Amino acid sequence: MLYTTIIAAFASFVLPVLAVPQAPGHPVTITATWSAAYDNPALSVNGLACSDALIRKGIHTIGDLKNYPNVTGIQYASFGSPNCATCYKFTYQGKSVNVVAIDNAQHGATLSTAALNALTNGHAHDVGSIQATVEQVPNSACKL
Ligand SMILES: *[C@@H]1O[C@H](CO)[C@@H](O)[C@H](O)[C@H]1NC(C)=O
Repeated sequence: MLYTTIIAAFASFVLPVLAVPQAPGHPVTITATWSAAYDNPALSVNGLACSDALIRKGIHTIGDLKNYPNVTGIQYASFGSPNCATCYKFTYQGKSVNVVAIDNAQHGATLSTAALNALTNGHAHDVGSIQATVEQVPNSACKL
């Protein structure tokens, strides 16, 4: 019974990590929406899935990022994931924005309102979500 408990505890810890999709090595289309939570530069990284990776880079609030407000939660990033605090390029109808992965998103990506506005000519609130192309790009593209 002890073993069952240990295995159950281990599985509940490991499964969310295994459920994170692999970061694509090529551009793919995902659903991108927005969250006003990421529009607050004073937001502490402590509550975000990428807290460890961000703190290792000296980032304590998301406004500390040189790339701020271009940030996102993304399905490829989870706690301890190497995709945390890396750079993703989103493209939509000829417009692009490079965003830092700061958090997990269960499906697709949740950008800051500012980043989704950059992709939609200021229409983030109107469109709600878009099908955008995303690819991982060198961190220098996000000033990391
Ligand atoms: C955020 O992205 C927009 C759109 O690409 C860009 O114009 C702006 O300079 C970026 N902001 C920062 C701080 O990098």
